[in-house]
Amino acid sequence: MKQIQNAADLQQAVREAKDKGRQIGLVPTMGALHEGHLSLIERAMKENDLVVVSLFVNPIQFNNKEDLEKYPRTLEADLDLIKSLESRVKNEAKATEVLAFSPSVAEMYPDGEPTEIVYHFGPVEEVMEGPRRPGHFNGVAVVVRRLFDLAQPTRAYFGEKDYQQIAIIRALLEQIKYPIELVPCPIVRADDGLALSSRNKRLSPAARQMAPAINATLEQAAEMAEYEEVDDVKEWVLDTLASWHEVHDCGEGLQFEPEYFEIVDARTLQPIATWDEAGDLGAVGCIAVWLDGVRLIDIVKF
Ligand code: PAF
Repeated sequence: MKQIQNAADLQQAVREAKDKGRQIGLVPTMGALHEGHLSLIERAMKENDLVVVSLFVNPIQFNNKEDLEKYPRTLEADLDLIKSLESRVKNEAKATEVLAFSPSVAEMYPDGEPTEIVYHFGPVEEVMEGPRRPGHFNGVAVVVRRLFDLAQPTRAYFGEKDYQQIAIIRALLEQIKYPIELVPCPIVRADDGLALSSRNKRLSPAARQMAPAINATLEQAAEMAEYEEVDDVKEWVLDTLASWHEVHDCGEGLQFEPEYFEIVDARTLQPIATWDEAGDLGAVGCIAVWLDGVRLIDIVKF
């Protein structure tokens, strides 16, 4: 692994790789790496000759200043994780090199942090996270476009936990017409089912014990979908989590506060009223829940 902090150095490495006809895999991250990120990097290493992992906490995608300040920054530990992954998968990897790109904000945005909304994605951004986090997807699209320009990847890897983000990147690629293969990767879960996330570190021990109930509830919802209507499944998930503390001993006055649970077409992300309305990718349930002051998201495929 080689750490690169300057855009020019990354461009140089990319040029050399391209001259040799190498395929490049890009794994965009905001650092604070966990096994979920490592699974993306591992897959990228198996499918490409060169892998670029970006480690950059992108200020313009945070619409909440406190969230940006609290975002964990663990660069040294991240670099160590990439190095040990490299030695772990060395024999099965196609990639001969991993570049860890960890630029400063000034390096990413030499003309200052862009404040304008430059991307509009239509209906796919008008649901779920979109209206609740104004400007978020524009900020994601701006940074991802910049990473695409610098790394010129053959493939780009994104985790399915941020399901709507994948739809946004798909729409971005349609707009900018870059020939990049978008590779959605399955969620990695802890043994108790909790979707891995950098935010999990902020949960108190009692909240961490309670959090797997989100996935357990979604799994039950998937079973209910065999015989219940869409609206009934939705209502049941929201009610089950909102009343969890009344039925279980949660301690510390903890309770789930669901922000939304939507059952949507997996491609368009538009809410469906009947299971038959789901198109070629099927239906997916997307949830955002507050627990212990931490906002957790997860999905279930129906
Ligand atoms: O999913 C994330 O971690 C971020 O939104 C991304 C794609 C790295 C852009 O900053």
